[in-house]
Amino acid sequence: MNDQPAIDVRDLHHAYTHGGVTEPVLHGIDFRVERGEFVVIMGPSGCGKTTLLNIVGLMMRPTRAAAVQVAGRDVLGLNDAARTALRREQIGFVFQRFNLLPTISVARNVGLPLRLRGIAPDGQVRVLLDEMGLAAQARKKPGGLSVGQQQRVAIARAIVAEPTVLLADEPTGNLDSANAAVVLDLIQRFHRERGLTVIMITHNEQLAVEADRVLHMRDGRFCE
Ligand SMILES: Nc1ncnc2c1ncn2[C@@H]1O[C@H](COP(=O)(O)OP(=O)(O)OP(=O)(O)O)[C@@H](O)[C@H]1O
Ligand SMILES: [Mg+2]
Repeated sequence: MNDQPAIDVRDLHHAYTHGGVTEPVLHGIDFRVERGEFVVIMGPSGCGKTTLLNIVGLMMRPTRAAAVQVAGRDVLGLNDAARTALRREQIGFVFQRFNLLPTISVARNVGLPLRLRGIAPDGQVRVLLDEMGLAAQARKKPGGLSVGQQQRVAIARAIVAEPTVLLADEPTGNLDSANAAVVLDLIQRFHRERGLTVIMITHNEQLAVEADRVLHMRDGRFCE
């Protein structure tokens, strides 16, 4: 099982339908990411990057595909409950807007993926917050943190349950360059030290240099 790729997508098509109009967005994507790889996806606004990430992250179903596998599991035939369970087990998400829950503490935000899997957070949350320089923020609400700190909390939350894949959709898009460097550094460190598989969307060429592979997307296709 463990030599299966983290992600394997074959001939993936997606179209959105709104107001009776169908807009094709992805046109036959083949996309394979090995375990432990760091892959960056770049491309102009509207080319379909987030759509691809959301399908791979089991946030939505594609219109059609020959195959979509996550951690060796074929996901096309799974019902909603099985998809949710697989997502909680295998996928960590980081968004441009941090999507932290405003009414609970930083520590509870970070522990949430564990609790959703029925695991009582033990020392992991504290260790992770420590490692990220956030120990002093643990009991605050997210609104009391700087944006750079909030994104570090989001990363802690995304990896606390040790997912197979971290999916990051412009994780530094709302940060200044100093905070962006800190956040990228953390993602790289978890990739290097823990073998975390990372798929990251970015518009920033400089953030792409450390990746194992940089894929360029245009009009719903990968191009070279
Ligand atoms: N929920 C949705 N409903 C309808 N159309 C959508 C939806 N989400 C995205 N689209 C359309 O699909 C196309 C691709 O969008 P997507 O968000 O995947 O692009 P992107 O490459 O992530 O762009 P950006 O760099 O601006 O984030 C766009 O034309 C967009 O308008
Ligand atoms: Mg996007």
